[in-house]
Amino acid sequence: MNRTRTSNAWLREHVTDCYVRRAKAEGYRSRAAYKLLSIDAKDRLIQPGDWIVDLGASPGGWCQVVAKKLAGQGKVIAVDVLEMTPVAGVTFLQGDFREDQVQMQLQELLAGEKLGLVLSDMSPNISGVALSDQARVMHLAELALDFAGNWLKPDGALLVKVFQGYGYEQFVEQMRQIFQLVAPRKPDASRDRSPEIYLMGRKLRR
Ligand SMILES: C[S@@+](CC[C@H](N)C(=O)[O-])C[C@H]1O[C@@H](n2cnc3c(N)ncnc32)[C@H](O)[C@@H]1O
Repeated sequence: MNRTRTSNAWLREHVTDCYVRRAKAEGYRSRAAYKLLSIDAKDRLIQPGDWIVDLGASPGGWCQVVAKKLAGQGKVIAVDVLEMTPVAGVTFLQGDFREDQVQMQLQELLAGEKLGLVLSDMSPNISGVALSDQARVMHLAELALDFAGNWLKPDGALLVKVFQGYGYEQFVEQMRQIFQLVAPRKPDASRDRSPEIYLMGRKLRR
């Protein structure tokens, strides 16, 4: 009963959400596209010519934003455990980013090329058990940070989704050890009641 009520409330909110309507009208696959569009409008993270990796890419809203801005100059590699309908100009690797084998496949695709930008919007299926959801999101963020630290160009950037809560401050500290500049971003399209926040790191400390 509770579950049905919650699902109905979610559906109602989703259908009336202005970003859902905009995404439909403007041909984006997800309302998430507007989170990246708004962050990029301010921070200019997507630079034509760069190689960019998008972790947790499906259904592909962020890929659409990146591919459009690169306009064929550079390369986009997207990873997701779920399938993704192809996006023109994007190389897709299906697999679980927590698995070594998937990370090795990704490294093969990079063929030694360093990245201008790593995006991670990875989030697990939310179980409703706050502490365990928090731990799983932070684990994915740590993997993205580790990958970014190894594969970014010195002036590259990471934009990674985390949840505010247990482990958040420690993760910000980990980011500060890797990047000279670390800043939180909460775009309008990110719902206020969601603990989700994005951390941007720029310029590797080396
Ligand atoms: C919020 S969605 C991403 C939305 C996407 N940025 C867009 O604009 O369409 C989060 C994605 O993370 C993916 N994900 C979660 N855990 C993952 C993992 N371990 N490896 C790869 N992808 C993962 C999910 O399958 C899901 O598609």
